[in-house]
Order: sequence, then C-alpha cells, then structure tokens
Amino acid sequence: MLRTHTCGQLRSSHVGEEVTLCGWVDTYRDHSGVLFVDLRDRYGKTQVCFGPEGGSKTQELARTLRSEFVVKVTGKVAQRPEGTTNPKLATGEIEVRPTELVVLNRSETPPLQPAGMDTPGEDLRLRYRYLDLRRAAMQQTLFLRHRMIKIMRDYFDENDFVDVETPVLGRSTPEGARDYLVPSRVHEAAFYALPQSPQLYKQILMVAGYDRYVQVARCFRDEDLRADRQPEFTQLDLEMSFVDADDVIAMIDGLMVRLVKELRGIDLPTPLPRMTYDEAMERFGHDAPDLRFGMEIVDIGALAAEADFRVFSEAAQSGKRVRGINAKGAADRYSRKAIDELTDFVKQDFGAGGLVWFKVDTDGKLASPTAKLFQDELLVRIGAAMEAEPGDFLMFVADEFEVTCKALYGLRRRLCAELELYDPRELNFSWVVEFPMFAHDDETGGWTAMHHPFTAPRVQDLELLANNPAACRAQAYDLVVSGFEAGGGTVRIHDRAVQSQVFEMLGIDADTAKERFGFLLEALQFGAPPHAGIALGVDRLVMLFGGLDNIRDCIAFPKTQRATDLMTGAPGSVDPRQLRDLRIKTVK
Ligand code: AMO
Repeated sequence: MLRTHTCGQLRSSHVGEEVTLCGWVDTYRDHSGVLFVDLRDRYGKTQVCFGPEGGSKTQELARTLRSEFVVKVTGKVAQRPEGTTNPKLATGEIEVRPTELVVLNRSETPPLQPAGMDTPGEDLRLRYRYLDLRRAAMQQTLFLRHRMIKIMRDYFDENDFVDVETPVLGRSTPEGARDYLVPSRVHEAAFYALPQSPQLYKQILMVAGYDRYVQVARCFRDEDLRADRQPEFTQLDLEMSFVDADDVIAMIDGLMVRLVKELRGIDLPTPLPRMTYDEAMERFGHDAPDLRFGMEIVDIGALAAEADFRVFSEAAQSGKRVRGINAKGAADRYSRKAIDELTDFVKQDFGAGGLVWFKVDTDGKLASPTAKLFQDELLVRIGAAMEAEPGDFLMFVADEFEVTCKALYGLRRRLCAELELYDPRELNFSWVVEFPMFAHDDETGGWTAMHHPFTAPRVQDLELLANNPAACRAQAYDLVVSGFEAGGGTVRIHDRAVQSQVFEMLGIDADTAKERFGFLLEALQFGAPPHAGIALGVDRLVMLFGGLDNIRDCIAFPKTQRATDLMTGAPGSVDPRQLRDLRIKTVK
C-alpha cells in the first residue's frame, strides 16, 4: 500500500505518529510562508501543513502543487494550534506536517472544480464525469445507492429469494416503450431487442419452480426522457409463486420499512396506505399522488349545474366535470399577472378551456371578476364545499374528466412547489391499486394494456373483459413515493383462456401472440403456478431517498435528455466494416 491511512481517518489519538497519505489537492493556500493543502480522497479531507521544519525542498515542491494534483505525503500528525481546529471536518483537530512529498501525478487545470461549493453546469459535469464524480455530493449519492442495493439484496436473501440473471440480448418485451435493437451478424435481417424489463424471463422462472426470484436488472427503453426517466435504468425486479397481490405488497412494505430504518433511522408504520386508482384520480387527478400535502380535488358538479355562469352549468349538464382545488391562505401570493400565467399553464399544457378562480375575502366571500356571473347564494355553497376560509385561493376547471385531472394535478404540483408546502426530503409511501386493465390507444383507436398483456383482471371483473373493458380493473399495484411511481407490478394471468381473451381485447391475434411471446405462452401450458411480481425503479428510489430531483444524479454515467453520453460520445458512428458485416446501410 502506498499509504498508511486514508484522508478521513486521522484523529487526535494519532498525534505524534508518522503517517503517509495519498490523495488529490482539494484546496491550497499560502499563509505567510506556510503552505496549507487540503488533501482529499473518498474518505474525507485532511489538512497538510508544509512549514519550514519539513525542509525547504519539500516546501518548494509544495509550492508547485495545483488543484487536483495527486500526491503522497509522509509526515507527523500534529494537534492543530488552538483556535484553528475545524469542527465541521472529521479530521479537523489534527494536521499532517510532512517531511516528504511525492507528486504522483499532475493535473491540467480542471474545467470544473470538485472542491467548489457551487454545482457546475450539467453539460460540463457530464462531459467531465470523472471530475464531477469526485464531488462529495456525487460520492454521497453513489454510496447511498450502494447501500440501498446491499440492503435490498440482504432482505430478499433472508426471504428465500434467488438472484437469477436474465439475458440482455433477447426478444422484445412488452412494456410499451420502443425497443433498443441489436442487429445479428449471424442471422440476416434478424435483431435482438434489449430487455425493457425481465418480465417474460421471470415468469418462466416461476414455471421452472424457482418460487421466489429477484434481480437487480438493467432495463432499456427508447422513450421520451424526463427528470425521472433514463433510456437505461435499473430495476429491483422480483416474482413470487403461490401468492396474491397482498403478499407482494406486504413483501415490499417490509423492504420499505428496512430501507427507511437503515437509511433514515425512522420507523415506518405498515401496512402502507392504499387507495384505488379511481380514488387517486378523483382526489388527486393522478395515479401517483403526492400525499405530503393536502389541496385535494373537490368535485362541485352538482352545484355547477345550478349556476347562472354558463361555462359551469353547460359543462355539468353535458356530462363533463367541474372540479377545483383550494390553495389555503394563498390569495395574497397570486397577483392578477400570476393568475394569468396559471391560466395559460392549464390551457397550453393541459388543453383546458380556462381557469375559473376566486379569492376568499375577509368576510369569507368569494371574489373575482367572474363572481358577478354567479348567484350569491351559490357562491356561498361553493365556498362551503371547498371549505373556503378568508385568504384562500380557489381554482376550478370545467372539462372532460381527463382534462380536469391533468390540469388540476398540474396546478396542485405547481402551487405546492411555489408555496413550499412540503419538505422536499420527506418520504411518503403509499400504494395505488386496481388500475384499469386497458387504456385507449390513440394511434389505433383500440385498447392497450395499462400495465402489460400478462396482467390478470380482478376475479370479479372477468365478465367485464368482453362487455365493458373500460370498467375492467386489474390486479395491479403501484408503489408511490412522494408523488413518484417508484414501482409497479401485477398478478399474472396463468389461465390460457383468460390470456387469449386479453390478447383479443388488445388486438393481438393468435399468430402475432405466438410470434411475439410464443415461448411464454407455451411455458404457461407446462404447469405454471399462480404467480405475481413487481419491479421497483432503483434510480428513482435513490433519487427520493437522496432528496434529489433528477435521476441523472443517481447514475454514475447517465445519458442526457437526448440520450447521449457526453463523456464517451455515444451513440457514435462505427467502422464501415462493422456495418458491412451486419449488412446495414444507413440512409439519410
Ligand atoms: P414498469 O414498467 O412499471 O414495470 O417499471 C417498473 C418501475 O421501473 C421504473 N422505471 C424507470 N425508471 C427510470 N427510467 C425509466 N425509463 C423507467 N421506466 C420505468 C419505475 C417503474 O415503476 N415488468 C414490469 C414489472 C412487473 O410487472 O413486475 C415493469 O417493468 O420506477
């Protein structure tokens, strides 16, 4: 070993010992002839003090040190003089006074300073990721990620799960995103698809009798990227045999208890609360509601139907919905200009016709330019329905159900951030269950699977499959953490007839089903046990536990919003010979 200790290790108890440290020059400063260098490694920082007693050669060499040089210093540990200790640093009571300095490597002037207090621009951080990864914040996040995955692996090991690796080169998996394809050199015009998830393999492992499977699995999806989406991401993927939805949920509840205890030191009460998808849409307008604050959606359709104000009455009478939210005490926070912005926001981002709003004045009356178009007594009843109090700010949208959901969900999120109604580090866990089996497919006009085509309907909804697919609910469950979908899973169909019926609903004919998932369907005919599973988004969980707002910060080498890796330059061009071997021609 080149060193005797790390840069985070030395304390007062080491005073007098001769030590050797290796690390990067974090900061350096010259104080009337004495040079102070903070030496940094993964474990911490130690102050190194090059004074005259170390010899003039060492001091001279020390003067040539610059940010991010890699050095080795040997010297005695000394107590820092009184008044110069640094309680913020674990090693803040001591310093090392070197007699020997070796420059192990020099560094160009770094384009971003790992020691800097500010977070550098993201393009720079991604381009020089190795410098960015030296920053303490990034290291903390990657250590958190390591610990989280370790806790997960231990938990599932204790619960008799076996970790099985599944292929990366495979057939397309039906998670609804676009596939990343890999051309085969050996088979002409044939492609592997990178897995969108190990879904089919894990079901086959249940058929194979493995009973409880788990994997930390890399998944690939070519979809539009957002702050919580990467083209390649990591799932904690599991599947269980002879269980129902409650068993999978309880298993994950147990994992969350363990994670929250070990990573936050908090006892999380279980069972975690559950609500149905329909309830989530009614109360929050979204299937991953943030329950850290109130501002729930209230339906005032019955009152709106009586309104002289035609936008409300006509909407209510034509089967549309009139719903609103109450931003408590926020009336003063929103000027006319700010309200115009909110109106543009619901119109442009969610296609709402407009925003009807009121401020509640000191007498408890609803006031706004639109108020005069309402009967006074109706305003009183609307106020009561919204539990309005002086100083509150009420907003309403009258539209199709989906539009009201999207617009009010968007408003609720925006206002809660603007009004700082929650602690961004607070973790809140809940389940949303009983999702619809099917969603309308805008492209084909038919149905698509809300989760995936192997999801079982609720037993009591089997009849609805054919008669009223929109009303058919699935044995599906999503784990929601602080307003993010952190995981999703379902009970699977293990009955051939039900599977065929679901395929039929999805417009997948027998031949297509055979071509795409024939191997799974075949496997299901050889003694498939009832089974269910779930996958958690590891990157998202790290983001949430780390109090971050972006999963790129939770991944060592992430891609940009345009799916490029700024450090390696991927995706890039390839040697023409490689293309020739693959019989691929590119067209502009
Ligand atoms: P699903 O598609 O819901 O389910 O994915 C499970 C979880 O993975 C995370 N996730 C993502 N994280 C980052 N970037 C992405 N692009 C991305 N897409 C999904 C989310 C999500 O909840 N095979 C099923 C699981 C099952 O049924 O067992 C599946 O993949 O946190």
